[in-house]
Amino acid sequence: MDFKYEAASIVAGAAGLDVNDIKDYVEVPAKPEMGDYAFPCFRLAKVMRKAPNMIAAEIAEKITDKGVFSKIEPVAAYINFFTDKSAYAAEVMKKIASDGENYGSLADGSGKTIVIDYSSPNIAKPFHVGHLRSTVIGGALYRIFEKLGYKCVGINHLGDWGTQFGKLIEAYKLWGSKEEVEEKGISELTSIYVKFHEEAEKDPSLDDRARAWFVKMQDGDEEALSLWKWFYDISIKEFERVYEKLGVKFDYYTGESFYNDKMAAVVQELKDKNLLTESNGAMIVDLEDAKMPPCLIIRTDGGTLYATRDITAAIYRKNTYDFDKCLYVTAIDQNLHFAQWFKVIEKMGYDWAKDLVHVPFGLVSLEDGKLSTRKGKVVLMEDLLDEAVKKTMGIINDKNPDLPGKEEVAKQVGIGAVIFDDLYNGRIKDIVFSWDRMLNFDGETGPYVQYTHARACSVLKKAGGAPDMAKVDFSALTDDASVDVIKMLESYPAKIREAASRYEPSVVARYLVDLAQAFNKFYHDNVILCDDERLRNARLAAVDAVRMVLKSGLALLGIKAPERM
Ligand code: ARG
Repeated sequence: MDFKYEAASIVAGAAGLDVNDIKDYVEVPAKPEMGDYAFPCFRLAKVMRKAPNMIAAEIAEKITDKGVFSKIEPVAAYINFFTDKSAYAAEVMKKIASDGENYGSLADGSGKTIVIDYSSPNIAKPFHVGHLRSTVIGGALYRIFEKLGYKCVGINHLGDWGTQFGKLIEAYKLWGSKEEVEEKGISELTSIYVKFHEEAEKDPSLDDRARAWFVKMQDGDEEALSLWKWFYDISIKEFERVYEKLGVKFDYYTGESFYNDKMAAVVQELKDKNLLTESNGAMIVDLEDAKMPPCLIIRTDGGTLYATRDITAAIYRKNTYDFDKCLYVTAIDQNLHFAQWFKVIEKMGYDWAKDLVHVPFGLVSLEDGKLSTRKGKVVLMEDLLDEAVKKTMGIINDKNPDLPGKEEVAKQVGIGAVIFDDLYNGRIKDIVFSWDRMLNFDGETGPYVQYTHARACSVLKKAGGAPDMAKVDFSALTDDASVDVIKMLESYPAKIREAASRYEPSVVARYLVDLAQAFNKFYHDNVILCDDERLRNARLAAVDAVRMVLKSGLALLGIKAPERM
């Protein structure tokens, strides 16, 4: 039962409006005396051309059937809805019990496909903390949309093509050693790449040779491609170690190289549609009418670009997956890139240009400055995750040294802390990395939510399991703390929906902290394992529902929920 929707239907019926137009207006008042739900009538002032309190009074007058509510009354500009607390508790709890693990699943997306392009690191470059955000935000959106019934296609659009690989081949030919690369992997590739840039400043002919290598790659030259493939394999091996630790998966690793043989047709299409113009020897799509700099399609040396591959990839994805939306999760500094090539797709006459969505996020920085590859000050993802696990192990050894399976718990909590911290903040916000903040078991953190989940598990274990729902008397859950918990539980599906519609996993992360806080208050105010069986059963049922929703919400974010910690 969607109580907000029920309240909106009643208002719509009385006011002669369409429920779909007003269903999002219903609020949850901060003070319980103001009802469990409230309809703000100022939202109707424009259409009804009356003062909001008059509207509230008039609509309330016309309501004849209270539906699921026990009381409906106008107060100033609001119509307040009161639920019958025990009926409400029973409704919510029974729904959760019958849905089980599927509670929160909706059918919004049935028959629809969402393509999500996320993580997408660059081959032969370190997988640094900046990639963390794309990886965890994209992974969370994948699971959130899946929960809403969408078919999701997760794509790792690896940066594995472009002139930089010509440079890398040239650098390897000049200074590389097979043994060193095999032993040190990406870090060795990065260091010869950096050396290339230093040397090319003194000797520009290096750049010409690098370009020639890339042209060879494009033309299918065997030597060039086998070196490239080797760099690719080495990089993927390192990336996959990180994905494994983060528990992230992709349906396809179709990086930029995948489009090498598909770009010519798209360039031709641009020509045929009269969109390509020459500019100083390069081919561009002019975007002056959209007040943007031109989108570069072919360089003066004939090479294709990042945008050329993105345009080709989008057309390929539309043809292959027939997506309803295609999301691109990247840093906010790529805003212009996406705006430009989305515009090119639109100019090509594809009406699905509107379904391409850039999902940008802010920067991650360390307390002492930005994390960038160019400055050479990078924090590697893998080191960071290992450090998180090590620090968590230290905390466990301090607080609960005899915890069984503590290595596994340290992994789940340490890595969960990093993921949660990233997702708790709104996407656009810049994040300053802080161990103290993210590993605080009492803060608004992953460990806090996990700890609350473990607490619920331990109560249930002591009680010998959850009670038989058929025997639970829900009128025992009408005290304020219980009602708060039940309201929080009820809002879970709506929160998932909100997270999806705003492409904002933080909605789920924040919800989990709120639910954990409501639960901890409930746990503090009520003796759960009391002698009164009626109370005990009802409270245990609530504990079990909280346990399940916390676990489910953490799973949406890609975080495990250990039963003990
Ligand atoms: N490889 C790019 C980078 O690290 C991100 C790619 C994002 N996806 C895309 N289709 N452009 O910045």
